[in-house]
Amino acid sequence: MKNTFYVTTPIYYPSGKFHIGTAYTTVLADTMKRYKKLRGYDTFMLTGTDEHGQKIETVAEKNGKTPQKYVDEMAQMAKELWTKMDIQYDYFIRTTEKRHEDAVQKIFEYFLEKGDIYKGTYEGLYCMPCETYFTETQLVDGKCPDCGREVKLMKEEAYFFNMKKYADKLLKYYEDHPDFIQPEYRKTEMINNFIKPGLEDLCVTRTSFDWGIKVKSNPKHVIYVWLDALTNYLTALGYMSEDDTLLKKYWPADLQIIGKDIARFHLIYWPIFLMALDLPLPKKILVHNWIMMKDGKMSKSKGNVVYPEKLIDRYGLDATKYFLLREMPESQDGLYTPESFIERYNYDLCNDLGNLVNRTVSMVNKYFNGQVPEYNGTPNDVDKEFEEFTNNKIENVEKLLENAELSNALQEIWSIISRTNKYIDETRPWELEKNDEQEKLKSSMYHLIENIRKIGIILLPIMEQTSKNLLGQIGIPEELQIWDSLKIYNNLKDIKVIEKGEPLFMRKKVEEELEYLRKK
Ligand code: ME8
Repeated sequence: MKNTFYVTTPIYYPSGKFHIGTAYTTVLADTMKRYKKLRGYDTFMLTGTDEHGQKIETVAEKNGKTPQKYVDEMAQMAKELWTKMDIQYDYFIRTTEKRHEDAVQKIFEYFLEKGDIYKGTYEGLYCMPCETYFTETQLVDGKCPDCGREVKLMKEEAYFFNMKKYADKLLKYYEDHPDFIQPEYRKTEMINNFIKPGLEDLCVTRTSFDWGIKVKSNPKHVIYVWLDALTNYLTALGYMSEDDTLLKKYWPADLQIIGKDIARFHLIYWPIFLMALDLPLPKKILVHNWIMMKDGKMSKSKGNVVYPEKLIDRYGLDATKYFLLREMPESQDGLYTPESFIERYNYDLCNDLGNLVNRTVSMVNKYFNGQVPEYNGTPNDVDKEFEEFTNNKIENVEKLLENAELSNALQEIWSIISRTNKYIDETRPWELEKNDEQEKLKSSMYHLIENIRKIGIILLPIMEQTSKNLLGQIGIPEELQIWDSLKIYNNLKDIKVIEKGEPLFMRKKVEEELEYLRKK
């Protein structure tokens, strides 16, 4: 039986068009799925939309639509974007689907029976017109942060989840599973900011609005949107439904990817819900940082939001994905600027990668009529160092990909590309030709093609179209476009490059592009 790999994105609030930050998580998950698939895993990727709650109810109303009609349209829009971005998800969950709603109701009743959920009283500062509770610290000058009106201390019946009961168990789990949370500093944050100071029980029902899943045994209560939303990772696989074959096959998830703003829900409440359900926890939760703009967060009110379509339509999908994945370091936020985007496009993609392929293809045409010379198997000193460098870097890239560290992986891949460009300067093929040093010239061309082949294969999960184009240009047949061939030298026999290399990326004029990118 094949190993399985189950990767999830958060389910998105469909409150408008998705921007490049939302696209980032999805591209990362998709890349990991593609990578594992290439490594022979049986993969499953989940994404979807988080369609309940007051926020959605309010936006729908503003748009003059029923919540259901509104979320139907939004889910459709999300799917269209993922199609445009060639995201290979296996299931798109919507929390308004019946199977999910039924399962959430069953989960709630199960927690009630077990005593993990109990009925109590919710007390808080309530804004009547906004129908929302706030904590003291959320208030602005003692008033509602949204509308500025007076808030009132209110009490109402509500259900609570007994988080306290699980606090020690969670800490122990963190301790015993050092790979559970990546990067590690997010775990420290959870422990110091939330668990050590004492976990509060969580209020898991609301009565102030209607758009949500009702508590089966007490339908005037609506289940808290996070309890509803988090369980999507299980219900999508058929948990608590008639058919849970997928759950048996794929649970526990191998990789759950989330942004830093939803860390507390995924690193504390989610594992506790799973413990309460007696289910194993995901193997890894990866918390990524945010893509920021020069003036801070992307927001509609600031008017600084960048939509992926804008980049894809002009620069292609691969350039867009490359930028997003490359510009998000593990330890801090990533930064989008028109300048950095166009720089990555012109330098990394056109110059470093595109020119390397183009130059090599034309040299193989010029010196060997397009036929890639066979390798005699004995590297000279220059080649030996070059082979070792490449092999070491490939090993590093594999480790980084296993760890979903895409920015670091791309950095390493680009160091192979730079080293390969440098190899042209070192071996100076044009001089080898002039001096009729045929063996060295053959070796140089062979090694160049061989490295470009490896670069192409290693980029397959990240930039598929570019990889396929590149591998096609150097004549690598489909059946040899496989991950395992990365470790092999000396398997290029009867390979012919195309007659005229085509640029993988067209160099752009910076000023023109900046104007395009800066336009709202
Ligand atoms: O949080 N850069 O949905 P959401 C990177 N429905 N990532 C960003 C980002 C940015 N600028 N802005 C947002 C929700 N994100 C819930 C999830 S899961 C059971 C429920 C990320 O649409 C954000 O961090 O508000 C989050 O991971 C994701 O987009 C979805 O955000």
